[in-house]
Amino acid sequence: GHPHVARRGDALFIEDVPLSELARQYGTPLYVYSKAAMLSSLAAYQRGFAGRRATICYAMKANSSLAVLQLFARAGCGFDIVSGGELERVLQAGAEPRKVIFSGVGKTRVEMRRALDVGIGCFNVESEAELDVLSDVATQAARVAPVSIRVNPNVDARTHPYISTGLKDNKFGVAHERTLQAYRRAAALPGLRVIGIDCHIGSQITEGSPYLDALDRVLELVEAIEAEGIRLQHIDFGGGLGIDYNGETPPAADALWAELLQRLDARGFGDRHLMVEPGRSLVGNAGVCLAEVLYLKPGEHKNFCIVDAAMNDLPRPAMYEAYHRIEPLERRAGPATRYDVVGPVCESGDWIGRDRDLAVKAGDHVAVLSAGAYCMSMASNYNSRGRAAEILVDGSHTHLIRQREGIADQLRLERLIDS
Ligand code: LLP
Repeated sequence: GHPHVARRGDALFIEDVPLSELARQYGTPLYVYSKAAMLSSLAAYQRGFAGRRATICYAMKANSSLAVLQLFARAGCGFDIVSGGELERVLQAGAEPRKVIFSGVGKTRVEMRRALDVGIGCFNVESEAELDVLSDVATQAARVAPVSIRVNPNVDARTHPYISTGLKDNKFGVAHERTLQAYRRAAALPGLRVIGIDCHIGSQITEGSPYLDALDRVLELVEAIEAEGIRLQHIDFGGGLGIDYNGETPPAADALWAELLQRLDARGFGDRHLMVEPGRSLVGNAGVCLAEVLYLKPGEHKNFCIVDAAMNDLPRPAMYEAYHRIEPLERRAGPATRYDVVGPVCESGDWIGRDRDLAVKAGDHVAVLSAGAYCMSMASNYNSRGRAAEILVDGSHTHLIRQREGIADQLRLERLIDS
């Protein structure tokens, strides 16, 4: 799963850089990303769409660091954004506004206005009420908003309930049965121009079949919508393709798309502009989080390996009981001990890995693998911990792309009261 992280002798390398050197030089916790890994994940999508009209819109919530966005912008990607903050980030990183699409169930008027002013490519509208508000905002700005409606195809992506988004009871998208009605409404509103349709059924999807089911459901709708004279220029299938955290074997993006394109062609929709919104599959296995072992704490039933990265740095285990591999950076002879790897935050839920066999001593370093997606982007300042620094590795070059957050950064917006 991690082609750009490998052992050479006893040392763990990312591309041509030994991780222990980065830990020593920049301190820990430290996020380290491989540029080559990101570009090779992207290349699988690019191969999948070779010869087609297609836009790969990186779902930047997975990893929203500016230099990562810059990398994808330079590689020709568009972006899927979900907030005004994300919009400003992609603009800073050099994105072409026309290749930006705006998803999310709770867009504000202010966010809509800014997105219209910079000329984004499409609003992925998630409710009928949002259609009305967007039309109103656009009309007031003397603009026309390009829209697609996010349909909820009601297919089971068979993933963790917190990250499944395409089921009936999820808050996302417009219900399959109401889609036609929503499109009629959109077509009639003065401030909107209907240009596409989109769906997104979940995240960390490890099989092709939910995509094929969703494709069939979406194409049925495309036919019904176009039968009413509303032409759809693009079809956006969302993101969601999973990665290997612990032996999962999701289809490769190019293989999955070969299959999906075959179906699209067979049903006569292969000529449409295609869009996807991958997040995790572009960055997840391109990053690691380095931590130092602070203390080993033996117990009656459990041994604890206390490291300096915590749930505020890497929230996925605490939030989803997610599994991330943990690899010591230095190799030690001698037997391994079974540990719960935990952080310094004052919560029992602050764990990074459970029941891991490790041969480590205090002062050693570990790498938490598959940490490129939804880790740093979900980091917080809980316990007043500063957020980690980030490094982008390119061959034997290292770029510090985000400095470690200091206490001054955390206190900057706060004020004591006078009396
Ligand atoms: N498009 C939309 C509309 C989305 O809601 C999402 C993710 C994506 C694209 C990208 O999905 P991906 O390709 O990354 O699976 N924090 C969770 C994942 C939440 C995903 C939310 N939506 C985690 O750490 O697993």
